[in-house]
Amino acid sequence: MTNVLIAFYSRNGSTEALAKAVAEGAQAAGADVRLRRVRDIVGPEVMAMAPGWAENSARMHAEYQAPTTDDCEWADGIVFGSPTRFGIVTAELKSFIDSLGGLWFQGKLLGKAGGVFSATATTHGGAETTILSMFSVLSHLGLIIVPNGYGDPITFQAGTPYGAHTAVDGQYVKAPHENDLAVARYQGQRMAKVAGALKTLRG
Ligand SMILES: Cc1cc2nc3c(=O)[nH]c(=O)nc-3n(C[C@H](O)[C@H](O)[C@H](O)COP(=O)(O)O)c2cc1C
Repeated sequence: MTNVLIAFYSRNGSTEALAKAVAEGAQAAGADVRLRRVRDIVGPEVMAMAPGWAENSARMHAEYQAPTTDDCEWADGIVFGSPTRFGIVTAELKSFIDSLGGLWFQGKLLGKAGGVFSATATTHGGAETTILSMFSVLSHLGLIIVPNGYGDPITFQAGTPYGAHTAVDGQYVKAPHENDLAVARYQGQRMAKVAGALKTLRG
């Protein structure tokens, strides 16, 4: 069995919807999936600044466990998902990644597969910079970067060659387009296959 961890952050559900679709794709490819949401790191005064943040966050807090270093050790492939914040990932996701120093030091993630997806408010709001800047992080962790490419025709209509993307702002309670979700499912399926192949190589 190939193990895939999806570690995401979301406040209003756009990234969560992509994460669920990545999970569906990985499961359809036969992987055992852990879907985990990293925790909030800001106070209630910030969460009160936008409609839905506090409520959606509370729902997701109840629904998903937080990812752990054990989850990363368990995984053969890790897919990180985050809203774009000023062109990069959220502090919440980065905070979890910064807890992986011990695993990094021991080389525990070397040779596993890694991928990234992101939600933005606007089409050209920086999803690609977010995903590409995360590729540096994946390199430091020793993860083998697994981009989507244009391996499925759906990627000619949505997403990016780097990873899944949606520009439907969850803040306004709109669900991502079906094409965005299809790309995310493809990303999950591809991650499961590549992570499985790399697991065999790692022995
Ligand atoms: C502080 C902050 C910075 C943001 N920066 C960007 C940005 O650079 N580009 C963009 O398109 N959207 C930006 N957004 C909007 C979010 O990326 C967008 O609302 C996303 O869909 C939220 O994902 P979620 O529904 O999973 O919480 C920003 C939002 C916040 C709160």
